[in-house]
Amino acid sequence: MIKSEYLSLIQERMGQRRYIHSINVAESAVELARHYGADEEKAEIAGILHDCCKEIPREEMLQIMTQGGIILDAVEKGTSKLWHPIAGSVYSRDILGIDDADILNAIRYHTTGRTGMSLLEKIIFVADFISAERDYDGVDIMRKKAFECLEDAMLFGLQFTITDLAKRKMTIHSNALDCYNDVIMCLEKKGLL
Ligand SMILES: [Fe+2]
Ligand SMILES: [Fe+2]
Repeated sequence: MIKSEYLSLIQERMGQRRYIHSINVAESAVELARHYGADEEKAEIAGILHDCCKEIPREEMLQIMTQGGIILDAVEKGTSKLWHPIAGSVYSRDILGIDDADILNAIRYHTTGRTGMSLLEKIIFVADFISAERDYDGVDIMRKKAFECLEDAMLFGLQFTITDLAKRKMTIHSNALDCYNDVIMCLEKKGLL
């Protein structure tokens, strides 16, 4: 498939707001890929597709994951918010025929992160926070950090999401904590903490 086909495909699967978000994430991902020397085409595809299953019914997400052979852990089972990245990566693999593991992992781990993330995975994780339509408090800091040090930007995002989840008494997936620890150790090693 080519880019325009991916775009019309996601447009059919989501509302206008999320469609614009997806395009913006892809644009930010390409900019980050150019800045950090990652594959710009892969960054664009992963950005376009990262939320491709976010607005489909939950039963459909479950069906995609089950058919794709995914076995959810207990936290994933009980937290439907964790489903769209997993369903999105399976859909991209099984329905769209994407066989690039890095693109699929970038989609799968775009909200939680995980330990040992690739450059592309980090780029999509951060691009989701800095896309053009984002306007939360601190987005300017996040945008600046994104082009200075990916891990520092990730820490900024993780600090917010992890504390926010805890405050709201919601589950925190172990991948997010693994990612947090990874990022802390990476920044320590770089002498940035
Ligand atoms: Fe998402
Ligand atoms: Fe997103």
